[in-house]
Amino acid sequence: MTAQPRVLVIGGTGGTGSEAVAHLLRRGAQVRVVSRDPERARTLPALAGTEVVAGDSSRPETLAAAFQGVDKVYYVPPTLPGWDEVQSATVALAADAGVRHFVKMSAIGVAADEPSMSLSFHWKGEQDVERSGMAWTHIRPSSFFQNVLLLDVASLQNENRIYAPLGDARVAKLDTRDIGEVVAVVLTEPGHEKRAYELTGPAALSYPEMADVLSEALGRRIEYVDLTADEYEAHLVATGWPEWVAVEFASIYGRGFYRAGGSSFVTTTVEDLLGRAPRSFADFAADHADVIRG
Ligand SMILES: NC(=O)c1ccc[n+]([C@@H]2O[C@H](COP(=O)([O-])OP(=O)(O)OC[C@H]3O[C@@H](n4cnc5c(N)ncnc54)[C@H](OP(=O)(O)O)[C@@H]3O)[C@@H](O)[C@H]2O)c1
Repeated sequence: MTAQPRVLVIGGTGGTGSEAVAHLLRRGAQVRVVSRDPERARTLPALAGTEVVAGDSSRPETLAAAFQGVDKVYYVPPTLPGWDEVQSATVALAADAGVRHFVKMSAIGVAADEPSMSLSFHWKGEQDVERSGMAWTHIRPSSFFQNVLLLDVASLQNENRIYAPLGDARVAKLDTRDIGEVVAVVLTEPGHEKRAYELTGPAALSYPEMADVLSEALGRRIEYVDLTADEYEAHLVATGWPEWVAVEFASIYGRGFYRAGGSSFVTTTVEDLLGRAPRSFADFAADHADVIRG
């Protein structure tokens, strides 16, 4: 491995990508980020010190220049319909450009027949990468703590409630800050090729237990409201989410892997790779209490 790999991060303006970029820079990597909006990307503090180039990851043909001279890639496909083909074309482009190591954001629970769009497109993407001839590493995190900021802030602020279709299933969620740090280790240290890393936080919590943690952090009682998958889908639509987002979140959490308790196990992978325990949900809640309170 070169002392300073040249790394392209596709998705570097996003949640795990920006964390990975910050840690890659600290580790001495040369980092290029491709973004649809390079002007905005250059203003992001986590990206200071990177080369930012223009490109739209939903149109792989716009990424050709970004791949030039790159040793390694961290690829974060956003959760969007129709990304099977986009992902396949991007992997092929990377291999043609001579990329040596392709690190793909995937997900725990990937399977060809999962009802969730993203769990099945990640499964297909993993197959694409493994067949590409490049060295590969799959990053398979459990559900992100940061989804609270995406899905639950309004109901926490207005009703002191979180809604989900999980029943009493436990989920070993984790923090995107830890995912980004793991990605930087994988890209800058040897020995991570041909590995699929299942990443979890330090504990598998039920949603009532997560509500208790949020109650403690916010200093007021938070209630968990358990919904069926269909009810959750209707709840998301009623709160303004597009239909496809509602279907995806109801499917991923309420119709397959997660509701069946698929992510109720804890792995030691984050601690093995970082040499410290992963952040807990209590850490996340304390760090974001002001944002959640509004
Ligand atoms: N949320 C979870 O609990 C969870 C758990 C496991 C795995 N995952 C996986 O993690 C990934 C999401 O990770 P993330 O939160 O780090 O990514 P993200 O922030 O959602 O998106 C990554 C990048 O995609 C680009 N992008 C967004 N919308 C786009 C569009 N319409 N067309 C083209 N590019 C677009 C953006 O880059 P620019 O705007 O700069 O171009 C963005 O920085 C998904 O693959 C998901 O399946 C999520």
